[in-house]
Amino acid sequence: MDKFVIQGGNPLKGTLPISGSKNAALPLMAAGLLADGPVTITNIPLLNDIYTFNNVIRVTGTRVEFDEIRKRLIVDPTGLYHYESPYDLVRKMRASFYMAGALLGSVGYARVSLPGGCAWGPRPVNLHLEGLQALGAEISMDQGYVIAKAPNGRLPGGSFEMNPSSVGATVNLLLAAVRARGTSVIRNAAMEPDVVNLCENLNRLGARIDGTGTSLLTIEGVDSISSGEMDNIPDRIETGTFMIAAAMLPGSDITLKNTMERDLGTFTETFSKLQTGLEIGADTIRVQSGNTLPSVSVETAIYPGFPTDLQAQWATMMTQADGSSTVTDHIYPDRFSYVPELIRLGANVTQHDNQADIIGKSLLKGASVMSTDLRASVSLVMAGLVADGETEVLRVYHLDRGYETLENKLNAVGADIRRVTE
Ligand code: UD1
Repeated sequence: MDKFVIQGGNPLKGTLPISGSKNAALPLMAAGLLADGPVTITNIPLLNDIYTFNNVIRVTGTRVEFDEIRKRLIVDPTGLYHYESPYDLVRKMRASFYMAGALLGSVGYARVSLPGGCAWGPRPVNLHLEGLQALGAEISMDQGYVIAKAPNGRLPGGSFEMNPSSVGATVNLLLAAVRARGTSVIRNAAMEPDVVNLCENLNRLGARIDGTGTSLLTIEGVDSISSGEMDNIPDRIETGTFMIAAAMLPGSDITLKNTMERDLGTFTETFSKLQTGLEIGADTIRVQSGNTLPSVSVETAIYPGFPTDLQAQWATMMTQADGSSTVTDHIYPDRFSYVPELIRLGANVTQHDNQADIIGKSLLKGASVMSTDLRASVSLVMAGLVADGETEVLRVYHLDRGYETLENKLNAVGADIRRVTE
């Protein structure tokens, strides 16, 4: 298992390229199953979750070719014959459950393992199942697998209201609905850029989705989705992570390129309260750390609100701010496993219910800490960058799921991170 050994104290200076979004790429890959022929998807990040999902898709007989140099993925469902996603792959990555909607939409039958829990508590799929049922699927359970059938091979379509609004369930219902016989309506649909990008790409290949970018999606089923090209968007969470890293490391001045500020929602407005230098270009964002770092409290919300995927990083930054702040997560209330690890480094943080209370300007000192999930891990790396001395972050396989060559990118702008394979 790999670990990172980090020497803290260096500012970040230079240009950092932002990779394609993992969370936006996965729905596009699943959508490839709906097409008549090969679909080429651009800007795919080289991440373990992408390799895992490639294998999930290949189980069905769909051809998947990954051109890692050009970061393009070809998904060709012409040979699709096996309508199943097995437990040993689905348990590695919850988004594999997108295969339920994709297989239902393409062949009218899916046998997909239930994903199970995850590092920050139970993550239900009730909305996915109730939504597919509302679209006309017959759902049954068999030894931990969900079996979903479309009567006569094609879903009739129907209406469903999400409560709460769920990214994953919206994606699954879209995948199931675009090739249904009739029209479907999703109310309180997720408006995250990952969903918007899926709708735009599907519409370009012949789908009829109306209301893209709003919480009311109307999907008129079509007979076919054509082969062609889909474009992935830049990773907004990687963008936000590096913005926060630059703000918390004194003397930093970084320019993020190949990014899209538009997809950050209200994050930029919240970030601007930190009084850093902030310059936004067409596809660049420059952040210069300020002379002081004010404390700013945040509460997560659905898009365009503050993303739950950035709260651990924000809390880590707030350990270096003047004064006290709170970080509250309304989306995933248990997502605070990083708190005890930050405390090991000397942070003054207490957690109760769905909130972390942070008293700022702690002098962090290097120690060994343990990654517990993707976003917790990156925040420990950031804590290591600001800490005095040497920090070891163990189990960085979590990071490899969602951050492309994180240590190389950060080292190129002045960090000192060594990957050690044990
Ligand atoms: C996606 C992202 C994840 C991000 C999350 C919220 C991917 C692969 N993952 O996860 O990084 O943190 O959005 O932005 O894109 N819920 C239910 N029942 C359901 C489904 C969800 O109650 O059937 C609840 C969840 O418990 C949570 C809320 O809905 O409180 C939002 O979750 P959801 O948007 O579904 O997250 P994911 O799609 O799993």
